[in-house]
Amino acid sequence: MSKITRRRFVQSSLAASAAVAIAPRFGRAQSANEKLGVAVVGGGGRGGEHIGRWLHDPRTEILYIVDVDEEAGAKRCDAIEKQQGTRPKFVKDMRKAFDDKTVDLVSTATPNHWHALCGVWAMQAGKDAYVEKPVCHNIAEGSALIAAARKYNKMCQVGTQCRSSKACQEAVAFIAAGGIGEVNFSRALCYKRRKSIGALGDYPVPSSVDFNLWSGPAPYTDPRVTRSKFHYDWHWQRLYGNGDSGNQGPHQTDIARWGLGIDTHPTNIITYGGRLGYQAERNDPNYVDAGDTANTEVTVFDYGKKCIVFETRGLEIDNAADEELNKLFGSASGNKIGVVFYGSEGYVVQRTYSDCVAMDKDFNVIKQFKGGENHFENFIDACISRNAGDLNADVREGHLSAGMSHLGNISYYLGENNKVSIDEVRQALSGIKSLDDNDKTLDRTVQHLKDNKVDLAKYPISLGPLLKFDPEREIFPDSAEATAMCTREYREGFVCPTADKV
Ligand SMILES: NC(=O)c1ccc[n+]([C@@H]2O[C@H](COP(=O)([O-])OP(=O)(O)OC[C@H]3O[C@@H](n4cnc5c(N)ncnc54)[C@H](O)[C@@H]3O)[C@@H](O)[C@H]2O)c1
Repeated sequence: MSKITRRRFVQSSLAASAAVAIAPRFGRAQSANEKLGVAVVGGGGRGGEHIGRWLHDPRTEILYIVDVDEEAGAKRCDAIEKQQGTRPKFVKDMRKAFDDKTVDLVSTATPNHWHALCGVWAMQAGKDAYVEKPVCHNIAEGSALIAAARKYNKMCQVGTQCRSSKACQEAVAFIAAGGIGEVNFSRALCYKRRKSIGALGDYPVPSSVDFNLWSGPAPYTDPRVTRSKFHYDWHWQRLYGNGDSGNQGPHQTDIARWGLGIDTHPTNIITYGGRLGYQAERNDPNYVDAGDTANTEVTVFDYGKKCIVFETRGLEIDNAADEELNKLFGSASGNKIGVVFYGSEGYVVQRTYSDCVAMDKDFNVIKQFKGGENHFENFIDACISRNAGDLNADVREGHLSAGMSHLGNISYYLGENNKVSIDEVRQALSGIKSLDDNDKTLDRTVQHLKDNKVDLAKYPISLGPLLKFDPEREIFPDSAEATAMCTREYREGFVCPTADKV
């Protein structure tokens, strides 16, 4: 199909007026009203949401679906053709789509290990990039993405859509205006049930998947994998995913950091936890689950005057006994995924992506904040204005929030084999300045594990080292081992460049 027949007119008045100004940017004969061409990379569950949003936006047209699984890609192309009237091209290798000058922007919802390299390649090829959270799989990749966005003058929006949520924006503004007094501490929670992903084993890769391309910057293990469900469950294997601290975490820690006005990495970090409870869940003391990320994880992030604690709980959630939390969330049951800000005069609680409340010290609701997000639209607005300041979730924010997951996990991974008693955890926590009550957090966590029949004598908690981090140089000055974990070894052909080499 020729470019001319592909073109359709933009409906949006914003784009219609602004497109005149941006036309020369694309270097192709372009009508002022032409739509922005999109390549969606990764057509799984989240990619489906991206597709829906681009189909809905009158300023965009999907030109490519990139997926290393040809079945997933073909399914997406069929559905798009029905709705859009034109069929996107399907390719397995993202570089082919990036070579096409008619592609203006890339939106990527691949597994985590691909995010940064995909974003860097896209921007090097002259595209703007919407990159899912966590924006990187390690600290160095996040810095590379920022460098690429700045060097090539590209818009890079991170998929932390709460940044565009009216409820969250108003709640954060309320905190900043002193609505609950002085606030130096927030607690971010991911209490979300995650069952075992099945036994560690030797499973075939689906025949529709190009496993070399799927593996990309991660090691190419073999044409077999150790988890039974190929897609999605990579989240719980550290070669590709980052556990819930890098899955739900970057949404919650991002809000926790945003509300406290923190614009840097933490200086001290400590993590304790484990992948616990699946033996009891399976009623088999010798059961070995295929995941190797923590399903129970508490990290304390010390930012000097301010502090954030992030808690992951993957086992059955029963908070009936946690009265304070139940009051803050307005509910005694179910998952609790959110952020609590502790102020001198009250609390602000982010309960869902579109619902926040402010409470006084007696837990009376004093203000409610409601309203959803327009995160994808915000990205297009910035692609048109060419002002990165218009982005609600610029790549730097994504890097700082994804970085929390990586820093917390580095402490966890380094201490994974350091199985300790609860008292030893308690003692180690006394070494970090936290504005939370570390003892109470630990007690709650232990109670949660006991409630889930975890025999802590047989399956003890792991305790990571207390790590000092240099936020400017992005290294651990006292630990070469931890600093080495700020990057990874890449395979030839899939090397994510360092920030100075983008
Ligand atoms: N912002 C949000 O609220 C939100 C919600 C869900 C998921 N996510 C993020 O979206 C990402 C994808 O999640 P998912 O649940 O869709 O995962 P998934 O495993 O179900 O889907 C990933 C898709 O990407 C494809 N893929 C893998 N490597 C690729 C490559 N190199 N090029 C092209 N395609 C490739 C896979 O074949 C698969 O179809 C994750 O990083 C996740 O953190 C964000």
